[in-house]
Amino acid sequence: MSDPQMIRIFDTTLRDGEQSPGATLNLQEKIEIARKLQAMGVDVIEAGFPITSQGDFDSVYAISQEIENAIICGLSRCVPRDVQRAGEAIQKAKMGRVHVFCATSKIHREKKLNKAIDEIIRISVESVKQAREYTDDVEFSPEDGSRTELDVLVQITQAVVEAGATTINIPDTVGYAVPQEYGHIFKYVREKLPMLDEKGIYLSSHCHNDLGLAVANSLAAVQNGCRQIECTINGIGERAGNASLEEIVMVMRTRKDYFAKYTNRIDAKKIYSLSRMVSNFTGLSVQRNKAIVGQNAFAHESGIHQDGMLKDRNTYEIMDPLDVGIPESKLVLGKHSGRHAFRDRLNQLGYQPDETLLQRSFEAFKALADKKKDVYDEDIEAILDEQIGQTRVLWELDRFQVTSGSGVIATATVVLKDSTGAKCTEAATGDGPIDAVYSAIQKASGVKVILEDYTTRGVTGGKDAQGEASVKIRHGDRSVRGRGLSTDVIEAAAKAYLAAINRIKSASEATDSGVHL
Ligand code: KIV
Ligand code: ZN
Repeated sequence: MSDPQMIRIFDTTLRDGEQSPGATLNLQEKIEIARKLQAMGVDVIEAGFPITSQGDFDSVYAISQEIENAIICGLSRCVPRDVQRAGEAIQKAKMGRVHVFCATSKIHREKKLNKAIDEIIRISVESVKQAREYTDDVEFSPEDGSRTELDVLVQITQAVVEAGATTINIPDTVGYAVPQEYGHIFKYVREKLPMLDEKGIYLSSHCHNDLGLAVANSLAAVQNGCRQIECTINGIGERAGNASLEEIVMVMRTRKDYFAKYTNRIDAKKIYSLSRMVSNFTGLSVQRNKAIVGQNAFAHESGIHQDGMLKDRNTYEIMDPLDVGIPESKLVLGKHSGRHAFRDRLNQLGYQPDETLLQRSFEAFKALADKKKDVYDEDIEAILDEQIGQTRVLWELDRFQVTSGSGVIATATVVLKDSTGAKCTEAATGDGPIDAVYSAIQKASGVKVILEDYTTRGVTGGKDAQGEASVKIRHGDRSVRGRGLSTDVIEAAAKAYLAAINRIKSASEATDSGVHL
């Protein structure tokens, strides 16, 4: 067989993924995710939508400076100021891309844009030309492409390619397409425009998962000449999310027989830790039965299955969990491990902490090692993710005490310490210990919030396992998430709540321009 075709993996976790409700990431978290994406081998990282806020602009700019081995992409509407912001944000990238989009389907033309197709083509062409002033690498997306008349798609594709677009992405924006139909769009456009292949233009898929078909649609596109797949870690994204990167990669890998014509650069062993990191940072937990990275993805419950597995794993397992980097709970460090050993382990796990982060994480590790006999890689990753999430610690939990029990009103006393070291003590009652602690924290910090979501999970097994709490709180019209870790579940819950409150307090940094998709 001749050389298999290289399929570009375009990750949009930091842009479309971050559009998942409540999934705001801070700058440090975005940089850490981008580093891991680079290490995993993604070809393109869509780092943000620079016009939407100063925070988005800054993160695309910072990631452009940081990442050398992937194309860094900024999204833009077909509006001159948008294109300018996206162009400026990728200015420092070794390989930078501007991605412009304009809706093309009849319903979007008539109801949303109130523009005729000629006008849409005109502004798209103008924007592509403007984007080319910043970079030679320009992607164009006809938004709601899968519901656009095929001839309109051909017309606009021809016009923007002539204007300088080098990648044409045809999105299934509302997750409406079915695989055969979506594949056909790619075939049709290529047949009508032989110049796409002649000029080496990349066709790209971008599928949403409203009907659960995002991965199937992406693969159907590939079989019809698409050479770039847009996807996200854990499939996060608007509404039901985007095509999931880990599923796409593992289908192509596990079914090499079927997809022999194609290859990609992804190191699948990095999938699991990236999935954990994205889940930790966004607060979006991975559904237990999620393919590839869900907690049950490799668990065998039925006796018949377990028996088969013992005889030969291949009876019921089509992938080896080690191939996606699911750790074998290795005991790595203990109470007597020093700072050097700790730093080395972090580097092996793919983190490059600066001195401050290293020091904070090392102190958290030492505190944990005092309480917990065995410290595993998962514990260390959880500590790092927690520390990275806390860019500005305004309030810290100094100590707390709770009384609760059946027939007793739960009462909590908390002592918070602010960044100057000043302490504030408050007490409150509540419906159970966590409610009481949360009320006391609200009183002490002076920040009034509504609790929208609260979950816990054990990071590792055993009696002394670390518990990880994750909360989502609302303050005005803003929802934020926070995580906390501890061997004590109430302390983990208190830390998570405080982390979210700290985020609210420091949120004014990134002023929102009000532009959203
Ligand atoms: O879903 C969509 O259409 C998008 C575009 C901006 C590519 O996210
Ligand atoms: Zn999208």
